[in-house]
Amino acid sequence: MSEEPVRVERRAGIAIVTIDRPERMNALSWATVRRLGEIGQELSSDRTLRACVLTGAGDKAFCAGADLKERQGMSRAQVREMLTAYRADLGWLARSEFVTVAAINGVALGGGLELALTCDLRCAVASATLGLPETGLGIIPGAGGTQRIARLIGEARALDLVLTGRRLDTTEALALGLLNRVVPETESVLESALLWLKPVAEGAPIAQRAALLAVRAARTLPLEQGLDYEREQYERCLESEDRDEALRAIAEKRKPKFVGK
Ligand code: COA
Repeated sequence: MSEEPVRVERRAGIAIVTIDRPERMNALSWATVRRLGEIGQELSSDRTLRACVLTGAGDKAFCAGADLKERQGMSRAQVREMLTAYRADLGWLARSEFVTVAAINGVALGGGLELALTCDLRCAVASATLGLPETGLGIIPGAGGTQRIARLIGEARALDLVLTGRRLDTTEALALGLLNRVVPETESVLESALLWLKPVAEGAPIAQRAALLAVRAARTLPLEQGLDYEREQYERCLESEDRDEALRAIAEKRKPKFVGK
């Protein structure tokens, strides 16, 4: 097993975070969760970052959830600590100032699907399997899964998946809105995600950030407050040099050069 449970690399404004424990189906051990938390802190201080893609090593698993081998040796108190750590160390995926994307390269089960649900967007290789099997193990999703899946696909659909614990293929997951897109098996889901994110990485930084924060706000704000927040975010764009540059570029029939000011 590799020493470091998570790898990070950067490609043109996009961070690629790879859970690197293929021998354990990239399961979330204590060290993996902690490392993801550290990585979140490191990335959050980088203002040049436009997106983060989270994926798993190998071609079998994105993440098979909690590390069940490690879990066997854990006391109840340690499990409680782990639940707190999920929230503390993985929450940045939903709060960062850059968009986060799960590139699901294989099974995403339990905490693995919860991890993907914490991201803003999700794409998967066509052969991937998704599911929340926790109730079959005498527990419930404990890394935000019950809350995030209900908000994403609605209560009745969420209850179907959480109560039955059944596994979904990507056709169904796409139809349910769990996935944004499915990538054919002949393609790399990571490369496909990077291509998908090109307009984000090359777009106007202030507008990209404002759009992300405004849409995310709709999760929690009542409509009138959400409209105020949208206006606030629009104001940031209106005051930017990039907005003036985009108008000039259209008039001059050329591509805009955005500087993030
Ligand atoms: N934690 C720790 N190790 C895991 C794991 C997990 N969540 N899931 C799989 N592994 C390990 C297996 O124990 C096995 O290791 P071993 O050969 O040393 O015993 C290795 O990964 C390969 O798994 P295997 O089951 O042989 O591969 P598979 O391709 O037949 O099936 C899965 C893969 C992921 C579908 C299957 O392992 C599985 O269902 N895992 C449990 C997933 C789960 O219920 N997660 C929710 C936890 S709340």
